Amino acid sequence: MTSSLETDRLILRPWKAEDLPDFARMNADPLVMEYLPRALDEDSSGKLMKRFERHFKKYGYGLYALENKENGAFVGFTGLNHVEFSAAFTPAIEIAWRLDYGSWGRGYATEAAHAVLEYGHGTLGLKEIVSFTVHDNTRSIGVMEKIGMARDSDGDFDYPALRKGHPLGRFVLYRSQKS
Ligand SMILES: CC(C)(COP(=O)(O)OP(=O)(O)OC[C@H]1O[C@@H](n2cnc3c(N)ncnc32)[C@H](O)[C@@H]1OP(=O)(O)O)[C@@H](O)C(=O)NCCC(=O)NCCS
Repeated sequence: MTSSLETDRLILRPWKAEDLPDFARMNADPLVMEYLPRALDEDSSGKLMKRFERHFKKYGYGLYALENKENGAFVGFTGLNHVEFSAAFTPAIEIAWRLDYGSWGRGYATEAAHAVLEYGHGTLGLKEIVSFTVHDNTRSIGVMEKIGMARDSDGDFDYPALRKGHPLGRFVLYRSQKS
């Protein structure tokens, strides 16, 4: 059974069909997608949401839709994901996040990520959770550091789906160990 998580201001829950327009709008926003290889059209967002749903079905957890408790608004997503590519640090489970631009700068990503990390190490008993992003993505790196993850100084890697030398291809790696 897939459970939802809750923080002071957010509900972290599995996806509903009604989330698609908001999810697609977020994934089409060039500001949100600045450090990702490309913005997504609605069809690609629909496929991505299906992939998130399959992950929930298979593992019982995944990348949760974030809902603002106060007004029910879509905030973005945060959660856990089995890394699909092969690298020096895989197999691994990552913690990841993407927020609607209008929800940046309120501490929502850090609040949700704290809850997910606690759930991952605590309830799920995961020994290690990783996170990674492009070198220049300081906001995302800020979330990793605020939730207590530590950079693996030997962990920098080239994102496999991008050609070597691609401006968004060089990634930093952060790790969190169960205490
Ligand atoms: C990465 C991302 C989720 C970070 O969002 P964010 O809103 O900056 O992160 P936080 O939730 O930690 O919020 C921190 C900010 O909220 C502010 N804030 C306001 N109220 C707050 C509160 N109650 N508690 C904590 N912080 C608060 C902080 O001061 C900080 O602001 P600053 O960045 O201007 O210093 C967001 O930039 C994003 O979605 N980026 C695109 C997707 C992406 O790059 N994902 C990772 C790719 S691998």
